[in-house]
Amino acid sequence: MRTSRISGFYNLPMDERLKIVREFAGLTDEEVEVLREGKLPREVADHMIENVIGLYSLPFAIATNFLINGKDYLIPMVIEEPSVVAAASNAAKMARDSGGFEAEATDSIMISQIQVVKVPDLEEAIRRIMAEKDKLIAAANEMDPLLTRLGGGARDLEVRVVGTEAGPMLIVHLLVDTLDAMGANTVNTMAEGLAPTIERLTGGKVYLRIISNLADRRLARAKAKFSKAAIGGEEVVEGIMWAYRFAKHDPYRAATHNKGIMNGIIAVALATGQDTRALEAGAHSYAARSGKYTTLTNYWVDDNGDLWGSIELPLAVGTVGGVVRVHPIAKIALKILGVEKARELAMIMASVGLAQNFAALRALATEGIQAGHMKLHARNIAMSVGASPSEIDEVVERMIRERKINVERAKQILEEMRSGKKA
Ligand code: MEV
Repeated sequence: MRTSRISGFYNLPMDERLKIVREFAGLTDEEVEVLREGKLPREVADHMIENVIGLYSLPFAIATNFLINGKDYLIPMVIEEPSVVAAASNAAKMARDSGGFEAEATDSIMISQIQVVKVPDLEEAIRRIMAEKDKLIAAANEMDPLLTRLGGGARDLEVRVVGTEAGPMLIVHLLVDTLDAMGANTVNTMAEGLAPTIERLTGGKVYLRIISNLADRRLARAKAKFSKAAIGGEEVVEGIMWAYRFAKHDPYRAATHNKGIMNGIIAVALATGQDTRALEAGAHSYAARSGKYTTLTNYWVDDNGDLWGSIELPLAVGTVGGVVRVHPIAKIALKILGVEKARELAMIMASVGLAQNFAALRALATEGIQAGHMKLHARNIAMSVGASPSEIDEVVERMIRERKINVERAKQILEEMRSGKKA
């Protein structure tokens, strides 16, 4: 059976892990080689941005145990920070015990903004724009016939008045379903294309014509139950609830809380070739939508004393176009996920964000995060001195117990174990 529930994955040598992923995702020899070496061809890099002189690599890892809407996923994550992948896998395991994550996402509606200033008569300008709304939408759709043919395109148009110290501005929002693309290029083209007509209709002057990264019409949501028994009992549930209330009511804490969520989301975004800055901008501006910056997740306790968590945030991600089209590893990451649709990718990323946040709160409300970090550090040292999967746990445990986490001590412990000497 194809399952993402793989115990002891972290103890396996790298190539063994790769073999498991290869079988899970049906990767070809060539894809395995690309992943192994982390290759981005120099000529591809040279066409991606300007002034390229080299490449920059990061670890590509897999979070296990994710069950989302009843489907098993191995989650590709690219990140420099230790503990993130282990924490996500661990949280996913606990959620899995109660059925995994339930996730959903809206259509891929992006907002394109057109800024009009010095409008002589605001009411009249709004009336004229609204009278021409259908024609403006049709004109926008002519700018991307392929998107329209595939079932996407401009859907609606809204007008807002925003006051400034130099007088009011008229802000036109064009709402566009960009389907499986992130959509920045499409909506920017449409905004630029409509601008002259908007200028004529309003009698004002158009300045900016650009996407809004507060993509609040393109939301992803996920929810999961973390049973009291699976997560360590009533006291842990209570600790997590207090951690949640801290973030809900204190922006200083909310920033760190949401940073933890984005640890997971951005790691998947990097692996799959997304615009990570757009995602960060969307998440944090959404977290401040009430006028007060707060948490992107919510937690509550049900009648049985079990903990539930949920997340809602904008996730403007694409499975076609952009980096996905050119970066060989991003393509492989999508293949590992088995995902073709942007909505499905958004649902996965929301689930990973929730898992990451739950794991952080659980650690913070109990032993703190340093213990986990030290364990991982010790595990890396044990592996680096050649401990086998069956030896790692003991080497780690002894180094932590002795509070001597270094290569020298790991070597000694390993020698002692192999020569039959007891701790
Ligand atoms: C560290 O990268 C992330 C955490 O600080 C998140 C949190 O505090 O919730 C552990």
